Amino acid sequence: MNDVKQILITGANGQLGKELLDLFSQHPNMEVLPTDVDTLDITSDAAVNAFFNAHHIDCVVNCAAFTAVDGAESQQDLCRLINVDGPRVLATAARDHGARMIHISTDYVYNGDACTPYQEDALTDPQSVYGVTKLEGERQVLDTLGENAIILRTAWLYSPHGKNFVKTMLDLGHTRQQLTVVFDQIGSPTYARDLASAIITITETQEWKHGIYHYSNEGAISWYDFTKAIHRIAGITGCRVLPCRSADYPTPAHRPSYSVLDKTKIKKTYNIEIPYWEDSLHHCIKRIMNKH
Ligand SMILES: NC(=O)c1ccc[n+]([C@@H]2O[C@H](COP(=O)([O-])OP(=O)(O)OC[C@H]3O[C@@H](n4cnc5c(N)ncnc54)[C@H](OP(=O)(O)O)[C@@H]3O)[C@@H](O)[C@H]2O)c1
Repeated sequence: MNDVKQILITGANGQLGKELLDLFSQHPNMEVLPTDVDTLDITSDAAVNAFFNAHHIDCVVNCAAFTAVDGAESQQDLCRLINVDGPRVLATAARDHGARMIHISTDYVYNGDACTPYQEDALTDPQSVYGVTKLEGERQVLDTLGENAIILRTAWLYSPHGKNFVKTMLDLGHTRQQLTVVFDQIGSPTYARDLASAIITITETQEWKHGIYHYSNEGAISWYDFTKAIHRIAGITGCRVLPCRSADYPTPAHRPSYSVLDKTKIKKTYNIEIPYWEDSLHHCIKRIMNKH
C-alpha cells in the first residue's frame, strides 16, 4: 500500500513556503509539490485545474497571498484577486478532486479593540483592504470545502527569507544611529519555521478536525519591544531605539492596536507545543547571522 501523502504547496518561494519545504524534506512519508506564481498562478482556473488533473493531491497548503499590507490600499483589485479569488479557485479544485486544504490567514481580520487574546470565534472586523480580503478568502475556502478545510490565522510572520520586520530591523540597526518604533500595537510574532512545523503536524494527523485555528508564538509584545529584543540578540549596540505612537507614524493601512491570538484550540486539538517568541527569535537570528 502506498501511504505517501502528496502535498501541494502554493506560494512556495515565500517565507512560510520555504520553511515548509525545508521541514517537509525531513518527512519521507510526504511528497511535496512546490509551486509559486511562475509555475502555478492560483488565480487561474485553467492552470489550477490542469495541475490537479496532472497530479494526485491529498492536501493543499496555500501559502500564496498578496502580503503587502500598505500596498493593498492602492492595489485593491490585485489584492482581491490573489487573496479572495485565488483561495476560491484552489478550494474548488480541491473539492472536485477530493483533497483537503490548509489556508493561511491573519490576525488583521480583527479590529484590535480587544484587551484579552482573541479566540477563533471572536467577532471579525478587518480595518484594512488586506484584512478584508483575507477574511473573504477564508470564507471562500470554508464555504467551498467545509469539513476538508482548515484556516490558520497567524501574525507578525518572520523568517530568514524574504522581507520581514526582523530583517528590516537588523538592517536599520546596522545603518542608523536612531530609530523610532510604535509601542501601541501589541501582538505576538510568529517564526515561520514554528508555524511550518505545526502545519506538518496537521498534515500528518489521523484526526483531522476542520475549522479555524490560531497560531503565533507564545507571549505578547509591542513592535518597539520586539525591535529592542532583535537588536539585543544580534548584539547591535550603536542604534538607539525610541518608542512612538502609531499616530506619529502614519501608514496607508490601519493596523489593529491589539491582535494577540489565543492558541488554546490548536494546542489541545493537535497536541502542539508552541515556543516562546524570544526563544524562536534567537533561533532565527542565529540562522540569519550564519546565512541560514
Ligand atoms: N507576513 C506576515 O507578517 C503575515 C502575517 C499574518 C499572516 N500572513 C499570511 O501568511 C501567509 C504566508 O505569508 P508569507 O509572509 O510567507 O508571504 P510571502 O513571503 O509574501 O509569500 C507569498 C508568496 O505567494 C506568491 N504569490 C503571489 N501571488 C501569487 C499567485 N497569484 N499565485 C501563486 N503564488 C503567488 C508570492 O510571489 P511574489 O513574491 O512573486 O508575489 C510569494 O512567493 C499568507 O497567507 C499571509 O497572508 C502573513
